[in-house]
Amino acid sequence: MQNTKHQRIVVLTGAGISAESGINTFRDSGGLWENHRLEDVATPEAFERNPELVQRFYNARRAQLNDVKPNPAHIALAEFEAAFAGEFLLVTQNVDHLHSLAGSNKLIHMHGELLKSRCIHTDKIHSQTSDITEHSHCECCQQPGLRPHIVWFGEMPLFMDEIYQALENCDLFISIGTSGNVYPAAGFVEVANSVGARTIEINLEPSNGAAAFKEAIHGPASIEVSAFLSSL
Ligand code: APR
Repeated sequence: MQNTKHQRIVVLTGAGISAESGINTFRDSGGLWENHRLEDVATPEAFERNPELVQRFYNARRAQLNDVKPNPAHIALAEFEAAFAGEFLLVTQNVDHLHSLAGSNKLIHMHGELLKSRCIHTDKIHSQTSDITEHSHCECCQQPGLRPHIVWFGEMPLFMDEIYQALENCDLFISIGTSGNVYPAAGFVEVANSVGARTIEINLEPSNGAAAFKEAIHGPASIEVSAFLSSL
């Protein structure tokens, strides 16, 4: 059993936690992501304009998941959760499955999941391990019309009520590997501050939102996450 003075912990992760597993972050290469502007592949308008490009883009991201595995930061979070007696919620902005593979249990994918698709006719969510093409039929209404189950810019992130409820009750908020550019996630630290929680950022460098955190650790997640969790 972990010996910690904290009882209700919320962790937010971003692309930085998966970087050392070999998945590129969004903003470290000058705003380009795998040679695309985010607006060309990650908006509903982009999907309307050029569905083939958007599907190809996410098909490639999904296929890449076959070649990656959790790194020590994902594993440290899962092991900490398993040993922790209090309330624990892991919220990830990542659409990869590395937290699940590491064994995290109480986990919210607020920006969706590559390994799921959604029917544009019924909004039903399906498991998706292969490419989506214009001919892919959904299981629910048996007609073409599957999109990646990804929250694009301009769409509402998922499970927000559950996330805010946990933030409003937490006594420790840890943000790992996120640049603090994208709301609402970038504002979570303010909610945790407002209820008097301890707030800490673990990131390779100070993020955009660094000033809002009471504490900071700057270094690679694969080393710093387990070191910090062991200190609790
Ligand atoms: N360890 C810790 N932090 C790292 C590491 C590492 N090994 N490598 C990179 N980082 C940090 C970078 O310094 C950067 O601050 O991770 C952060 C990654 O930032 P972004 O690329 O902006 O990713 P993220 O914050 O998750 O993006 C948020 O934006 O495009 C949307 O929906 C997408 O979920 C995504 C959201």
